[in-house]
Amino acid sequence: MQVSERRIVVLGCGGTIAGRAASASDNLGYRAGELGVEELIAHVPVPEGSTLAAEQVANIDSKDLGLAQWCALSQRCAHWLAQTEVAGIVITHGTDTLEETAFFLHAVLAPVKPVVLTGAMRPATSAAADGPQNIADALSVAASPLAQGVCVVLAGTVHGAIEVQKVHSYRADAFGSGDAGPLAYVEEGRLRVLRAWPQGPALRSAGSLPDPDAWPRVEIVMSHAGAGSALVRALVKDGVAGIVVAATGNGTVHEALEGALLAAQEQGVAVRRASRCAQGRVLPQPGDRLPGADGLSPVKARIALMLELMQ
Ligand code: SIN
Repeated sequence: MQVSERRIVVLGCGGTIAGRAASASDNLGYRAGELGVEELIAHVPVPEGSTLAAEQVANIDSKDLGLAQWCALSQRCAHWLAQTEVAGIVITHGTDTLEETAFFLHAVLAPVKPVVLTGAMRPATSAAADGPQNIADALSVAASPLAQGVCVVLAGTVHGAIEVQKVHSYRADAFGSGDAGPLAYVEEGRLRVLRAWPQGPALRSAGSLPDPDAWPRVEIVMSHAGAGSALVRALVKDGVAGIVVAATGNGTVHEALEGALLAAQEQGVAVRRASRCAQGRVLPQPGDRLPGADGLSPVKARIALMLELMQ
């Protein structure tokens, strides 16, 4: 039987996976976002029955990512996903804000086809470079009929866009899915699926996003021992539209900070409470005066609130 060819589009965004150092033993003193996406995929095995196309969307250290890159990336994804011959998309990206981009794309695309983000914890020039295997695994996921929606693949593990978090600053296996656990493992190019791929409607479509300078401004503040009201008062004075508080434990907030957040809410600022814990969620209780963030981490709650405030 003739197997029709599937196209996988690889969109390059930069990161350590595209990083270059002066020597193969240097895993720290490199510059992220140096190699082009074509170089990254040049020697990676392509899944049988698939062809690759590559496009450079950005080439930056992902700590410097902004709304303009997110808008451009979501538009390129929407363009490619609409092509019938495209089976899926792989995005090479820095790991530092990978979870934010994954959640953003999930929120504005909610694609049926797989959109697979990957990165690396060692630069491309390292003797221990993990990028090539991560790209090979991501291509296998993008080509698989078992995969759908936005996910992250690193160290042979597939994480969902809603739960994925960078949980280690150095280890190659740097990502986790918290209580939910991973979606699947990739083993020798095959997927071992552990649970259903999350699906759901987009919070807002990629095609209707306003220009980056017209996005509502949402900031994150953290509750901690000794937290005060000054930051929130300054943000309100500066015209912020929303504030996410990274609360302690099950959503508790220092009384001084809470007072300022309640006052901000009274003045029309949208406030959401996310937990600063790496696992678990804020469990709602009767009488909550500051709404929870639907179990999202603070950085993802910020994205959800920006999209909500655009409506
Ligand atoms: C980045 O996020 O762009 C640098 C760090 C990394 O990719 O691991």
